[in-house]
Amino acid sequence: MAFMTVAFPSQLSFARAMGNITGVSKVSTTSSVHFAASAATHVEAPEKHNIPLPPRHKHEEVTHTLPPQKLEIFKTLEKWAESNLLPRLKPVEECWQPTDLLPDPASESFHEEVGELRRRSRELPDDYLVCLVGDMVTEEALPTYQTFLNNLDGIRDETGASLTPWAVWTRAWTAEENRHGDLLNRYLYLTGRVDMKKIEKTIQYLMRAGMDSGQNLQDFRTENNPYSGFIYTSFQERATSISHGNTARMAKAHGDAELARICGTIAAEEKRHEAAYAMIVEKLFEVDPDGTVLAFADRMRKKVSMPACLMFDGRDGDLFSHFSAVAQRVGVYTAKDYADILEFLIRRWKVEELQGLSPEGRAAQEFLCGLAPKIRRVDERVQAKDTAAHTMAFSWIFDRKVQL
Ligand SMILES: [Fe+2]
Ligand SMILES: [Fe+2]
Repeated sequence: MAFMTVAFPSQLSFARAMGNITGVSKVSTTSSVHFAASAATHVEAPEKHNIPLPPRHKHEEVTHTLPPQKLEIFKTLEKWAESNLLPRLKPVEECWQPTDLLPDPASESFHEEVGELRRRSRELPDDYLVCLVGDMVTEEALPTYQTFLNNLDGIRDETGASLTPWAVWTRAWTAEENRHGDLLNRYLYLTGRVDMKKIEKTIQYLMRAGMDSGQNLQDFRTENNPYSGFIYTSFQERATSISHGNTARMAKAHGDAELARICGTIAAEEKRHEAAYAMIVEKLFEVDPDGTVLAFADRMRKKVSMPACLMFDGRDGDLFSHFSAVAQRVGVYTAKDYADILEFLIRRWKVEELQGLSPEGRAAQEFLCGLAPKIRRVDERVQAKDTAAHTMAFSWIFDRKVQL
């Protein structure tokens, strides 16, 4: 899962504007989805642990907020998950492998095929390469995402080899996702167009940083809440499918049909994962509409941000914003996509039609159903204001400058 976020040339002004419409203007420790008292823990800034990250605020961790009776739901859904979720995994023998889409090093024609790959990649513009590298770096931080899933109460893999359907899913999902980063990494390595050492450092920094906090600390917290976690993954898998789908379309336009096949193959798999996660949330809406709509509203108030917002190459303290701005300008992933995904999920989960909600649930429903048009209006205002052309040197492409 390459988690994506809203990308804006002037991301901070958008974040501020979004803070106003989502009602989140500062780090908040209370929200409508907290069913139980929160445990607040002081966390040291990463610099204390000798991790040279850009300066970030200290924050409080809010954990394990879902009460036991809600967690029981996941126990009772195990049989359902066994017969509905697990069939959405693909048997290993039927899966594509990165090798299927790249020159075969054991083949006589390997050097020739690599030469062809390199010739085709010369046509790819720098801004496109920045998007592809950003997507690859995000995919490569996969250990963080498996950790994220295994931090969710009620569904975590308690032993590392647990046979609950939730744990089986998480391991198999991780194993499927692992091929995405491998494929993009090997492709980019072979092109010779990017600075692999800088990219490898970025991946290592990102994995060290994790995904718990970012510049907008309220963005990401799921508080170990599986409702919030599965809403997040539903959103993100769709976002990554859109993003990889766009890099596929653009590769074709730049004359690289093989790269289009690579990105398109990954996009299709993201879509299969999205369908699975969205189905879990659909089931949660069925068994606990009030709890699920509250969790959805809470997730959207915090915004669906990318865990890779902590990406760092050892130099650019705002690397993620710069990458996001390029992705927005090029059209790989935009604010419009964000609003589209939200609307899609609201339709997919029939949020407008929910009946019998509590007053809080009805307020959450109303908030969700009115959010996408607000996001579109804010984006239009930000885009209209931000007409200055900024450029940025990206270490990933040997410090060549790219327009943001
Ligand atoms: Fe994914
Ligand atoms: Fe992925």
